Amino acid sequence: MKLLIASNNANKIREIKAILGGCFDEILSLREAGYDIDPEENGVTFEENAVIKAQAVADLTGLPALADDSGLEVDCLHGAPGVYSARYCGYHGDDAANNAKLIEEVSKFPDPRGAQYACALALIFPGKVPIITKGVCRGTIQLEPKGHNGFGYDPYFIPDGFDKTFAELPAEVKNGMSHRAKALELLKQQLSGLSRKENAQ
Ligand code: IMP
Repeated sequence: MKLLIASNNANKIREIKAILGGCFDEILSLREAGYDIDPEENGVTFEENAVIKAQAVADLTGLPALADDSGLEVDCLHGAPGVYSARYCGYHGDDAANNAKLIEEVSKFPDPRGAQYACALALIFPGKVPIITKGVCRGTIQLEPKGHNGFGYDPYFIPDGFDKTFAELPAEVKNGMSHRAKALELLKQQLSGLSRKENAQ
């Protein structure tokens, strides 16, 4: 069975293929499958946005589709930037401007500034209800950026149990404990439960 990933982000696609590779015969990004679609992410939760994207791809292609939505939730900011993480500064996709806004807001509060990365995944088999999983990775926000790996808010995020930011840690370490890896592992467990059920019937 083929799976389409509702994304063209190379890092996400690599991570998804590494974890779910054994569950599907073929896993393709939208571009690899020859499709181009960019549905509006107008949900107010990560889960809603993941379902919007996966549903649009499943409807367009008639194939099983997987989508994710992720972001940073800061405790003292009541969960902001949340689903607006990619456009916290007011427009889309400027990591430096998003980080500047984050630091301006959190610096009004004392240490430790608890936060979490969250990722929701939605897998839709055409005609079926979505399978949704969520992973979170807890940590704290520091005011000085450190490290050059990763992307987005990583230079400011120290995962619990470490004394380095995500941007200082090697990619393999981040990818082993990330919000996305946890959501993918949960999805893999659900898929193996489903196939066990089908085999038993
Ligand atoms: P999306 O899920 O690709 O739409 O990502 C939403 C936004 O959340 C990104 O643009 C980043 O600002 C932030 N984000 C999500 N995951 C991460 C991560 O692992 N590191 C840093 N920022 C992240």
